[in-house]
Amino acid sequence: MSKDVYTLTSPDGKTMELPVRRGTVGPDVIGIGRLFAEQGVFTYDPGFMSTGSCDSSITFIDGDAGVLMYRGYPVEQLAKHSNFIEVAYLLLYGDLPTAAELLEFDTSIRRHTMLNEGMLRFFNGFRYDAHPMAVLSAVVGSMSAYYHDTMDIHNPDAREVFTHRIIAKLPTIAAAAHKLTAGQPYRYPRNDLNYTENLLHMLFAVPAEDYEINQVAAEALDLLFILHADHEQNCSTSTVRMAGSSGANPYSAIAAGISALWGPAHGGANEAVLKMLEEIGDAKNISKYVAKAKDKDDSFRLMGFGHRVYKNFDPRATIIRDMCHRVLEKMGRVDSPLFELALKLEQVALNDEYFIEKNLYPNVDFYSGIIYRALGIPTSMFTVMFAIGRTVGWVAHWREMITDPHGRISRPRQVYSGAPQRDYVAVEKRG
Ligand code: CMC
Repeated sequence: MSKDVYTLTSPDGKTMELPVRRGTVGPDVIGIGRLFAEQGVFTYDPGFMSTGSCDSSITFIDGDAGVLMYRGYPVEQLAKHSNFIEVAYLLLYGDLPTAAELLEFDTSIRRHTMLNEGMLRFFNGFRYDAHPMAVLSAVVGSMSAYYHDTMDIHNPDAREVFTHRIIAKLPTIAAAAHKLTAGQPYRYPRNDLNYTENLLHMLFAVPAEDYEINQVAAEALDLLFILHADHEQNCSTSTVRMAGSSGANPYSAIAAGISALWGPAHGGANEAVLKMLEEIGDAKNISKYVAKAKDKDDSFRLMGFGHRVYKNFDPRATIIRDMCHRVLEKMGRVDSPLFELALKLEQVALNDEYFIEKNLYPNVDFYSGIIYRALGIPTSMFTVMFAIGRTVGWVAHWREMITDPHGRISRPRQVYSGAPQRDYVAVEKRG
């Protein structure tokens, strides 16, 4: 490979120079956009193991070194010194805000928390036992039926209002989905509270008594939202970009991202971890489940282990593990049997040849569920909590995609392995 081009030679000796793109950090990227036009071949990369889909200046991950940076800031620094609203500003606008910019942004988010009253009636249409992720994706999708003023994706002002609106309303919708399941009356947002305090209020307050915000819970949620806020071109973010690339309205694109997040290989893993720990039940059963996870004929996987990009450790898991200790200590649940079991499972897996060889480490979802459980958040709401944090990343990527001058509709190709051309046969002649 020369400095700026990669030379490709076809089996019949034809050569083609492919441009090499360089990011500010990270490996070089070979531009293959002209390959089909010039060589008549496609590339094949199921699961996008070696394929970059866009240019992005939002988040950087070095999976081997366990590095995660938002706009160049290591996530460890942001987790220690910042807060979710400031991180949201950073991801959306590229730099940390001044005090005045932060105040203005925070105030605007606080003022967009209420839902159109018509949307509240929409919740009554769901079955009482609807999964909150189903409710969340449906209600977010339905926002395009209520907020017509922000549907013009080419209007920067409309994009700005959409941005504030969706970030502000996600907790309100999430809490309303929870109240539906809990059979409790919906709580209106309180704009005197900060983002996570308001979420806790909407989740847990009831009309019959006063609700006091638990500051440990508010801080823990804030940290979890920072850590979940973005993760470059993951499955749900790529889904948002892909749906949005057709020019679809932004609420539909975010609803598509929520649906993608729900899967157990992605954001649904936090719920799956808790269910798995409950199923394992006791430390004496760990070896049985580890053996199942290693068995090629068994579809069982250790949920919360492994990551497509992190092959050393997930820096988010390290931070969450510490927070998990702190939350359990401060909430007086340090002897949580579930946490004990999780720690034992982690030790067994980390010392097991199979997991070592395949670089399978605990990921962000391994501990987050234990924190949510300690805060009293029901298991079915875990992925919803992930969605609240990740909405900021989805919106940042959607904005970047919409304003990319090289942006085109996403449209991958395929290897066709179906029948070659054949002639139609009338039904009475088939046999
Ligand atoms: N338990 C047992 N074996 C595993 C696991 C696991 N959790 N994860 C991967 N493997 C094995 C897998 O069977 C494969 O073995 P082989 O090479 O012999 O076929 C090898 O490790 C590589 O796995 P892969 O599925 O090809 O890797 P991937 O990059 O396509 O998948 C993953 C990554 C996260 C989907 C996968 O590790 C997994 O299913 N983990 C459990 C679910 C989970 O915790 N997901 C949350 C991810 S982090 C948060 C997020 O993205 O939302």
